[in-house]
Amino acid sequence: MKQYDLALYGLGVMGSSLAKNFLSKGFSVALFSKSEEERKRFKAKGDYEIFDKEEELIASLKSPHIVFLMITAGKPVDLVSDSLVPFLDAGDVIIDGGNSFYQDTADRCTRLGKKGICFVGAGISGGEKGALTGPSMMVGGSREGWEKCGHMLREIAACKDDVCCCDYVGREGAGHYVKMVHNGIEYAIIQLIADTCHIMKDGMGMNCEEMKDVFEGWKESRLNSYLIDITVDVLGKKDEDGTPLVEKILDVAGQKGTGSWTLQEAIRQGVYIPTICEAVFIRYFSGNQILRQAASRKLTSSAGSIALSKETDLDLLRDALLLGVIESYAQGIELIHTASENFGWEINLPAAVSLWQEGCIIRSRLLRTISQALCKDTYQNLLLTEEFAYVKELESACRKVAGKALEAGLSVPALLSVMTYYDSCRTARSSVYMVQALRDCFGAHTYQRIDREGSFHTEWQEH
Ligand code: 6PG
Repeated sequence: MKQYDLALYGLGVMGSSLAKNFLSKGFSVALFSKSEEERKRFKAKGDYEIFDKEEELIASLKSPHIVFLMITAGKPVDLVSDSLVPFLDAGDVIIDGGNSFYQDTADRCTRLGKKGICFVGAGISGGEKGALTGPSMMVGGSREGWEKCGHMLREIAACKDDVCCCDYVGREGAGHYVKMVHNGIEYAIIQLIADTCHIMKDGMGMNCEEMKDVFEGWKESRLNSYLIDITVDVLGKKDEDGTPLVEKILDVAGQKGTGSWTLQEAIRQGVYIPTICEAVFIRYFSGNQILRQAASRKLTSSAGSIALSKETDLDLLRDALLLGVIESYAQGIELIHTASENFGWEINLPAAVSLWQEGCIIRSRLLRTISQALCKDTYQNLLLTEEFAYVKELESACRKVAGKALEAGLSVPALLSVMTYYDSCRTARSSVYMVQALRDCFGAHTYQRIDREGSFHTEWQEH
């Protein structure tokens, strides 16, 4: 009987694309789908067979049996894993390639580990195209499992020069954690681009064609990245009537959960990520159209027109966006670093970040420099590294753009947070001493002093 190299369970868009990727690299693949339609639809060159019975799927595999799940995150991962266990042997590997919550992955590692199964949680980025031609993969969970399947995953992953964008980052849910933060950064950069477009259009009176040309020019700057590339494509896309399609899109954005998880995690770890935070919240708020429509009529403002011109100030906008992108990476990296310390995952930061250099949604030219910067310094914050000393030169542009947008009453939440983060970082003595004084005054919560050791409480009021 034929023995396949691995099984690909789930033939949705991502599953089919990954299967084709494995086949194109010469692996033989046993495919599985419960949906007859998916089974019929799948067509590819290469050595494969499609199954609809789990027992037969597993029996068709070489040992150790390696099963790659590409199914909906959440409960289905537990249900499918449990249904496979009776047919698996000790030492076999289940890989979960979905956008799973990292704590679920950690629980699965423990629960399935007790049954002898090596559970691997792989965060995969790059969408359908990436899955087909080379995704970025952030792998965590069972190291033994990684050692058994890693060579196959690395074979289908994206590569950039000498870097293969697939590696093991740490145990338990570390891989899905790094992917979750990747998505948080993705939210932030997307919102920064949206804010920039809002200033160009509603502030500077530019049309989509002019905006497209500006972004086209920025492709060759430090902003060079996948998200800038697709901004050009989106701005250039015309509707059937020849007008820009973006102008017809409803201003309500959904999300599948990873952005919100990033925020919840930032709160749990006590890490300040204001740009990611604004990007997540503005998506929720975008859904509150009734309030926005009512407020647009009732909340009057003293705002005037923006004192920025498309003839002379576009470089300021570029630099403001660049500072925002750098800060988005800085905030995400800070979160990964803190979580790794707190969970004892020992994530190698430069190595983890280098997995984003190709294949994923946040890939950019900056990432190589970021990886180098993280290698050299005793990690504090990306903004403090020698490689990013130039953020000081971007600051005045960003402050000017943010200030002018504020004066003009333009809603640019992510962009404003960039200055908030910058100024919060550089404020050696923050306003929080007042918070401590007030807490102690009303609740005897105590405070520390700058001139003496210990905890203090004061009777602040005479009466
Ligand atoms: C990727 C993407 C992908 C997807 C997310 C975010 O890395 O390929 O991040 O995972 O875009 O699901 O989507 P939402 O914006 O819907 O949360």
